[in-house]
Amino acid sequence: MPLQTKPSPVKLYDFHPPAEDFRSAVLRGLSLPQKVLSPQFLYDKRGSELFDAICQLPEYYLTRTEMQILRVNAGEIAAALDHRVLVELGSGSSQKIRILLKAAPQVTTYVGVDISRQHLQEACAALMGDFERLDAIAVCADYTKPLPIAAIPELQNRPTIGFFPGSSIGNLEPVEVISFLKTVALLGDLIVGVDLKKSPMILEPAYDDAQGVSAEFALNVLTRINRELGANFDLTQFEYRARYNEAEGRIEMAIASLSDQTVHLGNAEIRFRQGETLRTEHSYKYTIDEFQLLAMEAGFHPVQVWVDEQQLFSLHHLKQM
Ligand code: AVI
Repeated sequence: MPLQTKPSPVKLYDFHPPAEDFRSAVLRGLSLPQKVLSPQFLYDKRGSELFDAICQLPEYYLTRTEMQILRVNAGEIAAALDHRVLVELGSGSSQKIRILLKAAPQVTTYVGVDISRQHLQEACAALMGDFERLDAIAVCADYTKPLPIAAIPELQNRPTIGFFPGSSIGNLEPVEVISFLKTVALLGDLIVGVDLKKSPMILEPAYDDAQGVSAEFALNVLTRINRELGANFDLTQFEYRARYNEAEGRIEMAIASLSDQTVHLGNAEIRFRQGETLRTEHSYKYTIDEFQLLAMEAGFHPVQVWVDEQQLFSLHHLKQM
C-alpha cells in the first residue's frame, strides 16, 4: 500500500523568492577587497544545529536573558499584544512564542514568516497542536522584504503586531535597520529584541566561546562551500576571530587566513594573504536610546522597553506614529 501523507492543517502562503545563485553570491563576495560572505549562508543544516548549540552556551547570554525578560514581563507584554494578530518574523524561536501565547490567551491568530518552508510549516502545526484556540498561518517569505499583505487575507483589516526576537536585528547594518523597520511598520506595531552595549569581557566570549562552537559555526561555511561548490578550502589554514569594535558598537566575526594561499572554486582562483580576513557577520549592540532613535527615524514611537536586572538585553515595544 502506498504511504499516505497526512495533509498539513496549516494554511501556507508561499512567496519564496527565486533562490539566489549560491555560487555567484560566494564568488562576488570573495572578489571584494574586504572578502565577505552573507550571514544567511551560515545556516545550512549543520549551521542551524550549531547555532542552536550556541544558544545553549554559558557564554551566549542572549537567548536565556531574552526568555527571562519574556517570562518576568509576560503580563505586560501580553497586554501590549492586545487582540492583535501576532506575526513572528523568522519563526525559529518556538520557545519564545510559546511564552507569549501562554500569557496572552486572547491572541487567536499567529502568522509565522520564514524563508524555510518545511521548518515553518512544522513549527505552525506544532503550535496549533499545543494551543487549541490558535489558527497558525505559515507565510514562506524573506521577512526583510516588504510582505505582500494584500495577498494574505488574515493580515487585512485586522490590527497586527510583529514579534522579532533574538537580536537578529543586530545582524543588519544600522542603515539597513531603518529600511527594515520602515518595511515592518506596514504590518503594525512591533516587539523587537535588541542586545545591549556592554563590556567586551562579556561580549567577546559570547561570540568566541571556550568550547569552540562559535568557531565551528563560522568555519562550517567553508565546509559548505567545499561540499556544494566543489571548492578546496583547507580548514587547517583558517581560523575564526571575533572582536568587539567599540567605536562601531559591533562584534566583528571573520575567518582569517593563516598563510598565503590560493583556494580553487571551480575555475576561479581565490588568493588569500596571511592574516587576510573573510567577514562572516557583524552583530551590532545598542544602548536603549540609540535603538529608540533608529526606531523613530523609521517612523515608530517607542512606548515601552523591558530589560533584565543586569541590563544585558532589551525588548522594545514600538508603535506606529
Ligand atoms: C542570529 N544572531 C542574532 C546571532 C548574533 O548574536 O548576532 C548570530 C551569531 N553568530 C555567532 N553567534 C551568534
